[in-house]
Amino acid sequence: MAKNEARFVRVATLQELQSRGYMTVQINGNTVALFYHQDRVYAVDNRCPHMGFPLDRGTVRDGILTCHWHHARFDLASGGTFDQWADDVRKFPVEVRDGAIWVDVAPHMDVVAHQQERLRVGLERNISLVIGKAVLTLMEEGRSSAEPFRAGLEFGARYREMGWGQGLTMLVCFMNLLPVLDGEDRPRALFHGLAAVAQDTAGHAPRFTVPPLPDDNADLATLKRWFRQFIEVRDAEGAERCIVSAVRAGADRRQMADMLFAAVTDHRYISTGHPADFTNKALEALDLAGWELAEPVLTSLVRGYADAGRMEESNAWRYPIDLVKILEHSFDHLPEALEVGQVRRQNGRMALPTRDELVAVLLDDDPQASADVLLDALRRGMAADALAGVVTYAAGLRIARFHTSNEFGDWDTALHTFTFANAIQQGLRRAPSPELVRGIFDAAMSVYLDRFLNIPPARIPTLNGQRPTQPPALSELAALLDRQQQVNQAAQWVADYLAKDGALPPLLAQMGRLLLREDRDFHTIQAMEAAFRQVSQTDDPILQGHFLIAAIRYLAAHSPTVRSQGQTYQIAYRLHKGERIFEEA
Ligand code: FES
Repeated sequence: MAKNEARFVRVATLQELQSRGYMTVQINGNTVALFYHQDRVYAVDNRCPHMGFPLDRGTVRDGILTCHWHHARFDLASGGTFDQWADDVRKFPVEVRDGAIWVDVAPHMDVVAHQQERLRVGLERNISLVIGKAVLTLMEEGRSSAEPFRAGLEFGARYREMGWGQGLTMLVCFMNLLPVLDGEDRPRALFHGLAAVAQDTAGHAPRFTVPPLPDDNADLATLKRWFRQFIEVRDAEGAERCIVSAVRAGADRRQMADMLFAAVTDHRYISTGHPADFTNKALEALDLAGWELAEPVLTSLVRGYADAGRMEESNAWRYPIDLVKILEHSFDHLPEALEVGQVRRQNGRMALPTRDELVAVLLDDDPQASADVLLDALRRGMAADALAGVVTYAAGLRIARFHTSNEFGDWDTALHTFTFANAIQQGLRRAPSPELVRGIFDAAMSVYLDRFLNIPPARIPTLNGQRPTQPPALSELAALLDRQQQVNQAAQWVADYLAKDGALPPLLAQMGRLLLREDRDFHTIQAMEAAFRQVSQTDDPILQGHFLIAAIRYLAAHSPTVRSQGQTYQIAYRLHKGERIFEEA
């Protein structure tokens, strides 16, 4: 018997099928729908690939099988669908031998290749259910999370004329959160990130990148200077060509980061910090997906720089106190302060201010004092990234102390400062430069401007002083965030948990899970990711506690949502597990 012959199973007589027109049979755990149509026998999986409705309850006409639940249509012969949101239905080879029907149900499909293709379809057509099903299958097949992440990154960088946006930022945030999440939540995080990219690109024209300069050996210092000039006059195309040329000329990760961050901080706090955060996220994305994507990914940032609002043109930064003037004066002294500080570090003669001393000034009411204390700290030998960390902490405290009687939209004001400060700090860790140090001062001015959001300040719950006892159950936090505006209660819960020696990893995993169950809110995702990044960079339990209190307060303020996206994911999950959705509907 030929090898293929052995896979065929006898399932029914032709007469049985002819008399009924259709029937279902069980073969090796598969429910197969048989149809007799136009003198031929067809066999397909009885589960509609869209949401599992039984296809034997559909209609066949003119060679097309229509599922009645959402009216997906399939070519009965090939299984191919005419509705991309549904996916092709699996069809089985059939033979009729001596009046009996034989069906081959051996797997023929390359599952991974098929789901990679389905992920592409989901991204192109903005179909989150298709994305969810693809991610779940790819993860179960043992593929690295970096693979769908990279697919989303490439897609998002290419198919949005405006370039890098919220979708790609959310994708990178979720990818960064993956290590702290429970295993079962990781596909859900990827689903959210990829669905955000699909949503953000939907309806946009693609983006065409410019070629590099003909000479591959362009001087990097010159390219950097030209790049900044072109951004200054809002010429995105010229600036893009500088980036592509720098990459082709062999600029390394640090040199590229330096070039981008210099332009991002040439003007004050551009577009409320988003370009700085997007730049940081794009660089992190390349670390995760591979720097061979540098050209499409980094050029996608440029429109955001060129079109950005500049705080020199903002009333709040000019009146009643001219913050820009304070900053420009400080920047005049930066080279000298950095040089003195470096000498002190080399000689081991640092006399650094404490974190609390700095934070007290930053949270006070005097922008000139803020700028002075930063310059002084640099002069005394404090490393720029450490100083940026202090400003980020001060920005985090603005959220931790944000009073709930403020305008709801002001949560975002405090959030923008925090994520900007975090981006500057991460940038300085990656590529310290005198230009980027200006971002520390910008962040400090924004912390100053946010001071009224802490009047009166919300009380930060105590993080120590309790006897170690059993920490509260993590499910209590989930229950709290099922109710609206449990901002202070959630903060108290986190403080109690930490004070009672609750372990950090389960708390981070639970907070991540609570973020994932809500509908995607760009700023909440940013807040959580930045807070988790800060927690990962310190061993100080007080700092960790304050960042987590800031994060949970932000999340609690924006919970619960309708959670419709979670429902889509849940359907994908149940279909993936082979459940019958329709029977419980
Ligand atoms: S079209 Fe078949 S289940 Fe939706």
